[in-house]
Amino acid sequence: MRRDELTSRRTVRFRIVAGLLSAAAAAAFVYAVTVRATVSQAYIRDAVILAILGVIAEEMAVWVAEKVTMTAANLPILLAVMFTGRVPAMCVAAVVGAWGAWRESTRTVAVYNTANLAVSAFIAATAFGALERSLAFPLTRVSPWLLISGVVCGAIYESADMTLAGIGVGVKYGRSLGSFWRDEMRPFLQSLAVLTGVGMVVAALYAPAGVVVVVLLFVPLFASQYMFKLLVREREHLSKQRELSDQYLEMNIGLAAAMVVLLDSKDEYTASHSAGVAMYCRDMAESLGLPDTDIDALHLAGLLHDLGKVGTPDAVLQKDSALTEEEWVYIRQHPEKGAEVLSHLAAYQGIADIVRFHHERLDGSGYPDGVTGDKIPELSKMLAVADTYHAMTSDRPYRAARSSFEAFGELRALAGVSLDGKYVEVLAQVLRDKDLAYRDGSSTDFMREYERGRINLRLRGAPLADISGVRAVQEDQPAS
Ligand SMILES: [Fe+2]
Repeated sequence: MRRDELTSRRTVRFRIVAGLLSAAAAAAFVYAVTVRATVSQAYIRDAVILAILGVIAEEMAVWVAEKVTMTAANLPILLAVMFTGRVPAMCVAAVVGAWGAWRESTRTVAVYNTANLAVSAFIAATAFGALERSLAFPLTRVSPWLLISGVVCGAIYESADMTLAGIGVGVKYGRSLGSFWRDEMRPFLQSLAVLTGVGMVVAALYAPAGVVVVVLLFVPLFASQYMFKLLVREREHLSKQRELSDQYLEMNIGLAAAMVVLLDSKDEYTASHSAGVAMYCRDMAESLGLPDTDIDALHLAGLLHDLGKVGTPDAVLQKDSALTEEEWVYIRQHPEKGAEVLSHLAAYQGIADIVRFHHERLDGSGYPDGVTGDKIPELSKMLAVADTYHAMTSDRPYRAARSSFEAFGELRALAGVSLDGKYVEVLAQVLRDKDLAYRDGSSTDFMREYERGRINLRLRGAPLADISGVRAVQEDQPAS
């Protein structure tokens, strides 16, 4: 049988069953009205109040998990079953059932649920009436029999409701009653325990004092349910927000990657150099025990530090002889340009600050602004050491690569003059015991490093770096 054919058959069957259940509810109602109906004005007043409380409780229903709702709506129904008699109890149940189902389901489901609750209330109220007559306990005084009968009828009401709901689900979705009960047993027992536990406390007060007590008790109950509803909503809101910020971050990361790939197609050296620098940066930050956010930020800054070279003419980037002063102007612009591009991406603000200062030197001999020591962010100083070392050990059009040993000799000569000696020693520590490929930076691969940085950022949900002091520096020295 085709799927849609099966669905339409089930829909027709469900309509028939909903019709039958409604007929049963109507017959039960007629029976309740004609047999032993003692509907006084006080019962009607109580029933109206309980129906209103039931509807409010239904409105405040909270989805706590898939298929699990938390609602106090069955409590007024149980009280109506116990204290107002069969007819009012059926009315209260029908009103609550119709209210709950009408908003979120099809008309047939709403009809089915309404009839379900009315029939369940009829069964429970009939049982309660029989117990009341045979045990002869008064309804206006608390007695063990009153409470025991209440618990029994609560269980009868809930069981009837669940069984009828299971039959409805079986007819509509083809699920067996046995499997429905197996899955629903746990929430059923939890709900029953709460209903009978809270219900009997309320019933013990209802019996001597009347429905006013119930109204007073429902105020804090609704208040707490409302608070819980707000909490659940807040939780949903937060998870949605997190999802959006993840997407935003992913988009930002992808955008920066696209820019570096673009740079790579223009200048192949820059991509592999960036990967090497990023690798050293990360290992230096880790060996210093910096916080994860700083490690990630420095790693990413390593990958993106020469992004500004996208704006540098090819002839300058690939020139195999000394640069003219005019060409140097282009080169000096790249940290600022890269920082500017990154600063437009919200998630890269911290990275932008590191990139902007990566060619500044302790003695003020760097660029673009020539600021000195304490004005340079610490992470930029670390990046400068890694950048300088990797550039020295790389083959360039205008000179051959130095060995790791030679490069380190030169680096130490710069320590304390233009580079921070502390970080030169950190790099020395990192390089110790490493293989040759790591030492000369040839073991790196941009995309691999990039992917690693991307995964770290995603796992950590990325507020990137918080580099204290950078803002102050920028205020002192506005970008030109
Ligand atoms: Fe650079």
